[in-house]
Amino acid sequence: MKTLNIALPKGRLGEKVYAMFEKAGFPCPSIKENNRKLIFENEACGVRYFWVKPSDVAIYVERGAADIGVAGKDILLEYRPDIYELLDLGIGKCRMAVAAKKDFRDDPAATLRVATKFSNIAANHYLSKGRDIDIIHLNGSIELAPILGLSDVIVDIVETGTTLKENDLTVMETVVPISARLIANKASYKFGYREIDKLVHAIAAQTEENK
Ligand code: PRP
Repeated sequence: MKTLNIALPKGRLGEKVYAMFEKAGFPCPSIKENNRKLIFENEACGVRYFWVKPSDVAIYVERGAADIGVAGKDILLEYRPDIYELLDLGIGKCRMAVAAKKDFRDDPAATLRVATKFSNIAANHYLSKGRDIDIIHLNGSIELAPILGLSDVIVDIVETGTTLKENDLTVMETVVPISARLIANKASYKFGYREIDKLVHAIAAQTEENK
């Protein structure tokens, strides 16, 4: 059996994801040794895990450096990688939302200035409403933009809502719900579907518990 290369998103979500893979029958105990190693293999189980920056997982999978991986729906919608989306894992749940200062009053006749890390998601959202916008692409600390007058609104991920609250911002509308998805490289799925399907079924049984 060919070793299955699995890209896990580094961080808290990745640890939850690994726990699901472990429960599914693909353990790799050395991964729990808390060091700075990035690759862990369990030859007996035919798996090799590696920790990847969450926003890079889809690139590894699309290009075949990983056969499968776990990426947020936000990344899949923003970058539209050419991969198969196999399963909603029901974890890493949050939403993509439009937020603004509490006293912001929208003027539908004016071009809306939108700050975001998710330019494509924001553009599609407003295109579907026929609204003219000016996208201001930022790489982080998006919440600062409306506070400093750089933008009217932001399109960003809201999980607990704490970041918005602590910066006196409020949600105006939800764009799309987000969660972690199991994804596969197209060629890997074609040639290794037996192994991948086995894993998908074992993990699908657990996603019921996450609903
Ligand atoms: C995201 C997002 C918000 C925050 C929302 O940032 O951009 O800033 O989480 O979470 P909350 O609703 O629970 O407060 P993340 O921590 O992913 O890092 P980033 O700044 O790199 O986007």
